[in-house]
Amino acid sequence: MNRTRLHAAGKMLVRCYRAKLSVCAALCVLVLCWFYIFPVYRLPSEKEMVDEVLRQGDVWQKNQTGIDLYRKLLTDCCNPQGMFAVTKKNSPMGKVLWYDGEFYHSHTVNNETFPLFVEDNPLPLPLKKCAVIGNSGILRHSKCGQHIDQADFIMRSNLPPLTKEYVEDVGHRTHLVTANPSIIERRFQNLLWSRKVFVENMKVYSSSYIYMPAFSMKPCTDPSLRAYYALADTSSNLTMLFANPEFLHSLSKFWKARNIHAKRLSTGLYLVSLALGLCEEVTAYGFWPFSIGLDERPVSHHYYDNILPYSYYHTMPEEFLQLWQLHKSGTLRMRIGRCPP
Ligand SMILES: *[C@@H]1O[C@H](CO)[C@@H](O)[C@H](O)[C@H]1NC(C)=O
Ligand SMILES: *[C@@H]1O[C@H](CO)[C@@H](O)[C@H](O)[C@H]1NC(C)=O
Ligand SMILES: *[C@@H]1O[C@H](CO)[C@@H](O)[C@H](O)[C@H]1NC(C)=O
Repeated sequence: MNRTRLHAAGKMLVRCYRAKLSVCAALCVLVLCWFYIFPVYRLPSEKEMVDEVLRQGDVWQKNQTGIDLYRKLLTDCCNPQGMFAVTKKNSPMGKVLWYDGEFYHSHTVNNETFPLFVEDNPLPLPLKKCAVIGNSGILRHSKCGQHIDQADFIMRSNLPPLTKEYVEDVGHRTHLVTANPSIIERRFQNLLWSRKVFVENMKVYSSSYIYMPAFSMKPCTDPSLRAYYALADTSSNLTMLFANPEFLHSLSKFWKARNIHAKRLSTGLYLVSLALGLCEEVTAYGFWPFSIGLDERPVSHHYYDNILPYSYYHTMPEEFLQLWQLHKSGTLRMRIGRCPP
């Protein structure tokens, strides 16, 4: 990709000599600007990444300095403890919540929304061992279920299935699960019709927190509020937490400064960041954005399906590289491939 871009730039230069000089200059400036705004990274190929992970093997040593450093960095930038959810404390009546995924849209906390917020951060802090589960197909046949279930606090993304066929690989306990409003729309008819299916489906997460980006984009708000009411009206054991857009925004800036240039971070990276800020130890499972596994066989995108993401938004390999650096420095542990018995 790197090479093709340079090649294209070269071709453009040759053609430029025949064209008017001023046009050429303008084009060159444009190209330079392009490279300035979107610098070309040499991202490793899938094969290189597989080799690198295999080379590292099971060698991993916890690095308390790294853990403390990242907790401090994240606390300073983003205050996960106080800000990760919208609470009555950080969002009183009249507070303007700026949507982090859109320009110039905001929600002013009012009569109707304020009562839906939890009082303050409800998590049982400090969290000890946390497991963050990405949903990559690499989890298939990983036998990581028991490992995962042993953690003190287990975070999952986007209402993943936890049916019998998967339990051995992904475990069954959950303490916090994110729900993308688009899934409410797709899977549950936006909760405009029956809410029973939704409520029944949520039982698999027992008494977890459901974490929804209600104030990230305008179309997210209504489905999130509807999900809140569906749970509240059926005295479900789940507790709805709305992601605080200020927190999400500060995390985006944090990672942008560390070479992740996605339009929007993946849910997985938000959760890992939250865990790094709140937990004493973090293990990440199922983070593998590549289409081949350690045995070089194809890996599906999710452990439960192979629907590809909207790649315009996320830059998963960039994110993976950052997590891999944290793994190598002992700040968190990534489990890729099979878990030891
Ligand atoms: C431990 O983490 C610190 C901070 O990130 C880093 O500077 C150091 O090199 C790490 N130590 C090892 C052995 O990787
Ligand atoms: C709150 O709601 C009540 C009725 O539900 C309304 O009369 C009142 O004006 C509202 N207050 C504010 C500050 O919006
Ligand atoms: C909530 O949890 C209690 C205790 O585990 C259980 O008996 C009850 O059935 C649960 N309620 C719902 C709606 O799932």
